Amino acid sequence: MGKLAINGGEPVRRKPFPRWPVFDEREYEALKEVLESGVWGIGGSKKPKFEKAFAEYQHAKYGIAVTNGTAALVISLKACGIGCGDEVIVPPYTFMATITAVLDVNAIPVFADIELDTYTLDPNDVEEHISERTKAIIPVHIGGRPANMDDLSRIARKYDLRIIEDACQAWGSEWRNRRIGSIGDLGAFSFQSSKNVTSGEGGMIVTNDRDLYVKAWSLHNCGRLPSGEWYAHYLPGGNHRMTEFQAAILLVQLSRYDEHVKLRMENASYLDGKLSKIDGLKTMRRDERVTRNAYHLYILRYDPEVFNGLPKARFAEVLRAEGIPLSPGYSRPLYKEPYLNYYVKCPLSCPFYGKSLDYSKIHLPKAEKACYIEGVWLPQYVLLGSREDMDDIVAAFEKVRENIDELKHF
Ligand SMILES: Cc1ncc(COP(=O)(O)O)c(C=O)c1O
Repeated sequence: MGKLAINGGEPVRRKPFPRWPVFDEREYEALKEVLESGVWGIGGSKKPKFEKAFAEYQHAKYGIAVTNGTAALVISLKACGIGCGDEVIVPPYTFMATITAVLDVNAIPVFADIELDTYTLDPNDVEEHISERTKAIIPVHIGGRPANMDDLSRIARKYDLRIIEDACQAWGSEWRNRRIGSIGDLGAFSFQSSKNVTSGEGGMIVTNDRDLYVKAWSLHNCGRLPSGEWYAHYLPGGNHRMTEFQAAILLVQLSRYDEHVKLRMENASYLDGKLSKIDGLKTMRRDERVTRNAYHLYILRYDPEVFNGLPKARFAEVLRAEGIPLSPGYSRPLYKEPYLNYYVKCPLSCPFYGKSLDYSKIHLPKAEKACYIEGVWLPQYVLLGSREDMDDIVAAFEKVRENIDELKHF
């Protein structure tokens, strides 16, 4: 028996971290109110109220509450008129929906690399990938950390491109005191179960552009117009409306959100200070332009060389045995997905595109390093814990570092 819990030793911690989702009497009351009102969907007051509250929260003029973050991305792309033969620049280190949303509108995802010390799109590499077909960039604010919106906005202006911010992990994050989602043309948010603001499923589009708002609104509501007739359809839209139950829960979730962001940021900063001192662990770059970070994920860069070559997936397992829910995170850059290389016929081989793109030939070294070697995460609810909880996390990493020779054989 060794000292490490994975070898039968006593784990650093047996207590669970704070439970997610967080809810109290207010969610029960809000749900009861909708239930008893008899208006559970279209025509209710909760959805417009939440749209207004969330748009304001993100410093945007307009909000459209939809079924999920994927729908928010697809509708945003359609509202910008992006479709057949158009290229959209995306990062490979993200949830798969960022890419499938582009394919859904028959456009071509073109991958640019990320920065190794932020894991967000590298603006220099974005510029390298611009062609005469490029119509938009989708920066992903990964784990809540804003992408470099200064440089990406400059590139978008230079080449006349749209920016659709994938803010599905970044409610309330700020770049130079501006809330993300409202910096580009449109921003897409998710309220899926794991998210820091959740109603189980749900999404939101925000924008400051009236024309894009009207188009996106129409697309989410069967092609109708905001003040138009019920049976007049101007765009080929669908039913992507959020329900009153979701909006009611989200209004309550939003009311306690600032308190949560503050706590997550304090705990993340404490962890940064302690974990960056452990040999073989790097924290993400500090940047004064990131004035607020939602910390959907607390991302760390792990160096296997310092840990006897232990692969990151095994390292995460060792930490989990100590009672710390460390995840190895995204395990392959999205251009390696089998469906892109074998199954997607349209739009990749569409004659309208007229170019051929072989994803199997792509090699973006920083994204590959993040996926295959070093990127590990703690989930957001962990950061809602106490200072003692954070000390347990630090103690567990230190313990593994000190006893790594027990794992020599891996
Ligand atoms: C970066 C990113 N983009 C898009 C999505 C899609 O959101 P949803 O699951 O609500 O469709 C998610 C959600 O997991 C996400 O993390």
